[in-house]
Amino acid sequence: MDKLIIEGGVPLTGSIEISGSKNAALPVLFASILLSEPVRLRNVPNLRDIHTTLKLLNMLGCACEYQKGQLTIRPGCLLPEAPYDLVRTMRASVLCLGPLLARIGHARVALPGGCAIGARPVDQHLKGLELMGARFKLEKGYILGHCRKLHGARVTFDMPTVGGTENLLMAAALAEGETFLENAAREPEVMDLVNFLIACGARIEGQGTSRIHITGVKALRGVEYTVMPDRIEAGTFLVAAGITGGELLLRQCPVNELESVILKLRDMGMIVSEVPGGALAKCAGPLRCVDVTTNPYPGFPTDMQAQVMALMCLAAGAGAVEESVFENRFMHVPELVRMGGSIRISGHTAMVRGVRRLTGAPVMASDLRGAAALVLAGLAAGGITEVSRVYHLDRGYESIEDKLAAVGARIRREKE
Ligand code: UD1
Repeated sequence: MDKLIIEGGVPLTGSIEISGSKNAALPVLFASILLSEPVRLRNVPNLRDIHTTLKLLNMLGCACEYQKGQLTIRPGCLLPEAPYDLVRTMRASVLCLGPLLARIGHARVALPGGCAIGARPVDQHLKGLELMGARFKLEKGYILGHCRKLHGARVTFDMPTVGGTENLLMAAALAEGETFLENAAREPEVMDLVNFLIACGARIEGQGTSRIHITGVKALRGVEYTVMPDRIEAGTFLVAAGITGGELLLRQCPVNELESVILKLRDMGMIVSEVPGGALAKCAGPLRCVDVTTNPYPGFPTDMQAQVMALMCLAAGAGAVEESVFENRFMHVPELVRMGGSIRISGHTAMVRGVRRLTGAPVMASDLRGAAALVLAGLAAGGITEVSRVYHLDRGYESIEDKLAAVGARIRREKE
């Protein structure tokens, strides 16, 4: 296992290129199961979750070639099994369920277990697919699904689930007849999947709204497609500029998709401006705490909650951070407190009172975005911070220590 050693206190200056989006690339990779022709993808980030997906696609019968962000997937004779060994390391594996049922009419996918950031059930995925004609049973920790031919249906999600909307979109693209998804997730990554499917010949209307209408087609064609830039990686680097009192130019920063985050950072006192090809972020003076509530898009993203909390730890005043998407997403709090942060949790809300300085300490990451928050805190803290269990970070941030070192951070990776 690796750890990151950070010597904090350097204002970061320079420019960083934002990578392709992990959360947009994953469903697009799974959507390739829907095709019998090759798919060529660009801007696919070199991340652990992407390689896990490639392994899984391989086991399902697709040949994948990945090199420097370019990926070719050649679907072959499909097999229905997604084994527990892979699914347990990445919940998004459940996204093969809809495409497998649509293509071959059966699937055996390990049930993703409890996850560090909450129970995260898949009931909405199953409910929707059942309405489309699939039948499921649970056997020895696996979801066994089968169907004759999926048909269109009207599916109303209990909550706007990103993965649920993506699974249903993929299934409906090849189903017989029309599907209406109500209360669908509107996240930009869902839009990116819709754009990919449309490029392949799918008939989809209403993307970007909570009501999506899909008319199934007989087959989809192979295409070349470029994955959107990662708004959460970009948001994390915006915070890096703020927390170190530096100035960063983020190339390919998806400014529109980050609006709720940028507005909050401006409320805190940061200057974030759109410039040709990206965004420029800096501090205009001392920052102040604000209140933040996470919500489905276009609300403030839960995937930026931990990073903004790290920033508030060093801002003036006090603010409430309310997590309303996941029930257990404050695992970074005790670690930030060990670095000198003043945070008190009450139910779904963390009350942050800004302090003058954080102090470097050995801390442990326990989820992807929490890990990013600890790195950010380490960049601003006095002394040395050692972030262990960096494999969480490697799931979602491409070459993070190289990108940060290139703008002045004193950061290195070591084997534990
Ligand atoms: C995706 C993102 C993740 C992000 C999350 C919310 C990927 C690979 N991951 O996760 O980074 O934090 O969206 O923006 O894109 N729920 C149910 N039943 C279901 C499905 C979801 O109760 O069948 C609940 C979840 O427990 C959670 C909420 O709905 O409380 C939102 O989850 P969802 O949007 O599905 O998140 P993911 O797709 O897993």
